Amino acid sequence: MAPKAQQPEREKITIPKLYEMKARKEPVSWLTCYDYPTALLMDRAGVEMILIGDSLGMTMLGYQTTLPVTMDIMITFTAAVCRAVKYAFVIGDMPYMSYQISKEEAIRNAGRFMAECGTDAVKLEGGARMAPVVRAITDAGIPVMGHIGLTPQSYTQLGGYKAQGRDAETAQRLIADAEALEEAGAFAILLECIPAPVAKIIHERVKVPVYGLGSGKDVDGQLMIVHDMIGMFERFTPKFVKRYANLSPILLEAFSKYREEVKSEKFPQPEHFYAMAEGELEKLLSALKRRRA
Ligand code: KIV
Repeated sequence: MAPKAQQPEREKITIPKLYEMKARKEPVSWLTCYDYPTALLMDRAGVEMILIGDSLGMTMLGYQTTLPVTMDIMITFTAAVCRAVKYAFVIGDMPYMSYQISKEEAIRNAGRFMAECGTDAVKLEGGARMAPVVRAITDAGIPVMGHIGLTPQSYTQLGGYKAQGRDAETAQRLIADAEALEEAGAFAILLECIPAPVAKIIHERVKVPVYGLGSGKDVDGQLMIVHDMIGMFERFTPKFVKRYANLSPILLEAFSKYREEVKSEKFPQPEHFYAMAEGELEKLLSALKRRRA
C-alpha cells in the first residue's frame, strides 16, 4: 500500500498572518464560541478566528442583555475555549465596565485574558471616545480590536439593537471612529450592523483589517454568533444571520425520545449495564444469606 501523503502541519493564525490574508484578499471566517467541545470542532474546521463574546450572557446564561457579564465569567468561558484551540486566533471580549472606568483597570483586565486564558488579543466596544483606552492597552503590549456600529453594551444609548450609520451624519461619525481606533493602535476593527456602503468606505480608508458582522461583503472577513448560525438561539434572529444548521429541533427530539424511553422502560437495556466479575454475584448472595441467618 502506498504510504499516506503527509498533511502539512497547519500554522497558528497570528496577527501577521491576518495581515497577509488581507493583502491577498482572502476573507477570514470568524465565529463566536463559548465552550471547549465547540471550540475543538471550530478549530478542526479551520475557522481562522474565534471570539469569546460577552454575547454568552444571552446565548449561554439566559440574560436579556450582555451587561450582567463580569470579568470572572468571561475568564471561565474564555479559558475553556483556549484549552481547545490550537490554530485559530482567539479574542477575548472585554465585558461591560471592565475597561470604561480607568485605563489602569482596562489594562489589568485585558491582561487577565492574556495571562489567565492565553488569548491572542482582546476586543472592546467604542470608537473615538475609547481611543485613549485602546492606546493604553496597546502600549501595554496587548493587541486590541475596536468594535463599532451596533455596540450591544450601549444598547440603551443607541435606542435598542438596531443598525447604525444609516444616515450621512452618523455614517461620518462611524468613519471618524474607525480612523481614531486605527490611529490609537487597534490591530483590527469590527463593524457590527452598519450599511454595506459605509463598511466599504471604512474598509477603503483604514489600513488595518476590517471585519464585519451584518455589514456587507466589502470587508476582510465575516463574524457570526455561533448560536444564530446553528439554530440554538430562538429569541430573535437578526436579518444578517444565515442558518447553517438547525440543532434545536434535533436536540428537542433527542431529549423527548430519551424521556419517553425512560418512562416506557425501553432504556436502559442489558447492553448498557455493568456485569459483576465472574462468580462474584453468587458470593455476594451467599454472604447476604449467611448474614440474614
Ligand atoms: O459578544 C459578542 O459576541 C460580540 C459580537 C456581537 C460582536 O461582541
